[in-house]
Amino acid sequence: MSKKRAAIIVSSDAGYRGEREDKSGPEIRRIVEENGYEVVSTVILPDEQEMLENEMKKIADENLAELILTTGGTGFSMRDCMPEATIAVTERIVPGIPEAMRAYSMQFTKRAMLSRATAGIRKQTLILNLPGSPKAVRECLEYVISELGHGIEILTGEATNCARK
Ligand code: MTE
Repeated sequence: MSKKRAAIIVSSDAGYRGEREDKSGPEIRRIVEENGYEVVSTVILPDEQEMLENEMKKIADENLAELILTTGGTGFSMRDCMPEATIAVTERIVPGIPEAMRAYSMQFTKRAMLSRATAGIRKQTLILNLPGSPKAVRECLEYVISELGHGIEILTGEATNCARK
């Protein structure tokens, strides 16, 4: 199977202004690289829905990555809009991955239920929201990453059935 490409989008007003060092983007990079993905881009954007949408659209429409992982902007703050941006650009919603992340995360903190993270597909790109802290990124992504590759292979036509070896 060919190496899959991942793009990282960080949603953070403070990170965008350079007031806070982003530790979640590097955490995503570490985990995906350990799992055989190539990271093709990392951008830090403010919590602005249109900017987030445009970045996701560009990556999917220009076929720059099979996987977009976002971090931040999934909570209740009035500025948090990552799920809304994701839903606006995706053609098909993928509820199971965020459901699994939240269920698994409850053992670490019941506040996991406060993340509104969603996931969806645009063209041949899977978009998955992760919460904002490096700890939450680690807990969520390390749990689901093993299964993302199979979904992407079905999405891109690289795999045609679900038979296990
Ligand atoms: N999920 C896991 N696994 N671990 C965490 O520490 N933090 C929660 C939740 N999900 C957390 C988690 C908290 S406190 C919040 S407010 C929400 O994610 C939203 O985070 P965000 O606004 O940074 O995206």
